[in-house]
Amino acid sequence: MHTQTSRRIAMRRFSSMILLAAATIASVAYTTPAARGQAADVKTAEQVYKNIIALKGTPADQLGASMQFIAASLGVDCEFCHVQGKPEADDKGPKKTAREMIAMTLGINKDSFRGQLRVTCFSCHRGSANPVSMPPVLDSDMPARPAAPTAPPAGAATATPDQIAEKYLTAVGGADAIRKITSRVMKGSILSGGPEAPIELYTKAPNKRVSVSHMGGREGMTAFDGTVGWTGSTGGAARQMSEAEAGSAALDAEFSLALRLKELFPQLRRGRPEQVNGVDCEVLQGTRPGGIAVRLDFDKQSGLLLRMVRTTTNPMGRMPVQIDYADYKEFDGVKVPLRWTLARPNGRFTIQIKEVQDNVPVDDARFTKPADPAK
Ligand code: HEC
Ligand code: HEC
Repeated sequence: MHTQTSRRIAMRRFSSMILLAAATIASVAYTTPAARGQAADVKTAEQVYKNIIALKGTPADQLGASMQFIAASLGVDCEFCHVQGKPEADDKGPKKTAREMIAMTLGINKDSFRGQLRVTCFSCHRGSANPVSMPPVLDSDMPARPAAPTAPPAGAATATPDQIAEKYLTAVGGADAIRKITSRVMKGSILSGGPEAPIELYTKAPNKRVSVSHMGGREGMTAFDGTVGWTGSTGGAARQMSEAEAGSAALDAEFSLALRLKELFPQLRRGRPEQVNGVDCEVLQGTRPGGIAVRLDFDKQSGLLLRMVRTTTNPMGRMPVQIDYADYKEFDGVKVPLRWTLARPNGRFTIQIKEVQDNVPVDDARFTKPADPAK
């Protein structure tokens, strides 16, 4: 009953949060401790937070991602379980239930799935606080059985991962044209349900990027300087991203994915072809060192990238981020998508670019995290 409303609230909050917090395509992403090689200085949740019982031993920088996963799985807002401004308080019943549920879920995976994260909150909850235990009755006539997928004729040539990557590179404009462009400034707007907000993106090869959004007189920034990711806003201190968040920001900052695809994903595999918005696509899959898995959909005809789905793992489950690219236009011999939509379980936004300038000087200082204001 209340889930619908709280979900809407959660989405609205999330959207405004995105706008304020800088608006771009950096996502909250976390790698598994194993993937990060468990640096000795990684703090556990109980060392950083006040009241951790069920998630003891979880790296502190993965608590946020775990909470987002839980909220998205139940289709609720943080306040469904937490007293606003006092997340350590145990005043709310659902928080206590959630603690038992965390223990139960970890137990199911340990006992029945050799410790692999197979059953998650979402497996039962499916976007609702109250899981349904009974299959529903049919509410319309039995649909006709869908036709079995037709297998490709035996011996039909299938594209290899290298061929798909090459076709993408050629479609974008080819390595020579791409290498002639070393920086790009784009101006446009970001739409996320509410009013349109102006946004500028400054990018530089191979992987520097800062986006600046303007909303209610404030500037929100999300940046990757080639090594470090950060977010900030006018008047506030900049926050450095966790290593894992920065991994996603780094992918967004890639100046030319087409040029560096094989370098970034040394083990690209071909996935089952699928359609994206009715367009037949070839699929490549790969994993970045550090644990971010991606699926890339390329238009079978044009060869251009239409969709990237990134999956990051947190201690509670895996969270997807889907970016759809559209409206490719050519600038200086290189095709650039002028519109992209980023969607997550708990929010989405679209960036529409209206102006593109290549090879304008961009000072490196733009990408650097500002020093903390003197105390
Ligand atoms: C379904 C219930 C539920 C939802 C929804 C939820 N949390 Fe939690 N949260 C918990 C539980 C349970 C704990 C304690 C975990 C433990 O015992 O290890 C916790 C702990 C926390 C803590 C640590 C507090 C401390 O100092 O001990 C923070 C911070 C937090 N949550 C933030 C959030 C945010 C932000 C959201 C929304 C994105 C959120 N939570 C959504 C159940 C929830
Ligand atoms: C194996 C299935 C299953 C899994 C996995 C599961 N739940 Fe549940 N959960 C349930 C069921 C069933 C109920 C309803 C229990 C009842 O009606 O008493 C429930 C109820 C809850 C409630 C109480 C909701 C309310 O309205 O008060 C919370 C909170 C909750 N689950 C959180 C979680 C979280 C967080 C996770 C993941 C860590 C999780 N659950 C995983 C089956 C599951």
